[in-house]
Amino acid sequence: MKTVTCTAPVNIAVIKYWGKRDEKLILPLNDSISFTLSQDEMCAKTTVSISPTFTEDKFWLNGKKESLENPRVQNCLKEIRRRASKRKFEGSDENVWSWHVHICSENNFPTAAGLASSAAGYACLVYALGQVYGVEGDLSSVARQGSGSACRSIHGGLVRWYKGEADDGSDSVARPIAPPDHFPNLRVIICVVNAGQKKTGSTVGMKQTVATSSLMQHRISVSVTSRIESMMKAIKEKDWPTFCDLTIADSNEMHAVCLDTFPPCVYMTDTSHAVASLLHKYNDLKTIESNINHKVCYTFDAGPNACIFAPEAVAEEVLALLLQAFPPPPAQATDDYVKGIPSQPATLSKELTSLAEDCVQSGKLQYLIHTKKLQVIPCQEDGHVPSLDSLGFLWS
Ligand code: DP6
Repeated sequence: MKTVTCTAPVNIAVIKYWGKRDEKLILPLNDSISFTLSQDEMCAKTTVSISPTFTEDKFWLNGKKESLENPRVQNCLKEIRRRASKRKFEGSDENVWSWHVHICSENNFPTAAGLASSAAGYACLVYALGQVYGVEGDLSSVARQGSGSACRSIHGGLVRWYKGEADDGSDSVARPIAPPDHFPNLRVIICVVNAGQKKTGSTVGMKQTVATSSLMQHRISVSVTSRIESMMKAIKEKDWPTFCDLTIADSNEMHAVCLDTFPPCVYMTDTSHAVASLLHKYNDLKTIESNINHKVCYTFDAGPNACIFAPEAVAEEVLALLLQAFPPPPAQATDDYVKGIPSQPATLSKELTSLAEDCVQSGKLQYLIHTKKLQVIPCQEDGHVPSLDSLGFLWS
């Protein structure tokens, strides 16, 4: 029997993937670019075991036995086994590709919070399967078949997912385009919004957008293509203010095509818009102070939660601003409200205090996550071997 445990990070797109040219192979209509986040606060963890004595494949997600019928999981598994069988053909003496597998996956963050859990989850699953079946080479094109955005979590730093041109998807892969410290000391603040309504999932939402939105035609043929090039230039030149503007513009365009969808996909709430508006005012102040390198940017996925990128020099100030504008409900302690990297929120200037006072909304956020970009390799084998007890259900 062979067993491995791996972890994989979350990634946040700054140029969004929204819309497929092939639903089955999960091929996107446009290139996208993302940052891979640190695994300290959020990661997926998967343990896989293969054995010639296992009689069937089995799958547990967050401790619950799940069916392995899911076509996306099946596609990943089939592709890994196909690649593993090729290795045997090339002279490997093991026929491990034919062994059944038991898979245990878990996230260390709430799946329901809509925080890119499928990206980390599928990247982790594919990476762990690759390790246990001995598959080498690019795994992003396999992770892509689990969930499109998962292919970017295979790498660290800034990552570009190339849409590719080939019908079989062979050139639709993710590649690192800049190392983790390219924009050094960046902090990430995620505002988890208290959202009552249920959102339309990304897969369904983007399909409806492609089918019904005329604004989407413009995004694909004009705006996102040129924004990708501008973003590549901003990254190459380490032009942080332009990087911020492009990130914000692309998030807003994605949500504009969502609203142009019939029926509309509404992901951002009033609180999401209040966070965005506060950050625009913050950036205006930094521009007046001639501190444009201290600008911050926000981006929203298919949900109401804001993901904010802030230079470390102002991260505590931005946290203090958010705490003042969106205080926890009176019963909740600040420690419990700001999760992740311990912080000492700064004392706000008069100008910033009045910005916060203009938009105070108590209890509108569930909590904040304070984290950073990934500094080490992305998907990795976890040195900590889980106890047999915790793996007991693998064998049941
Ligand atoms: C809004 O990767 O979840 O997060 O490929 O259908 O599984 P499927 O969609 P998914 O889409 C994520 C879209 C997004 C933007 C992004 O991450 O680029």
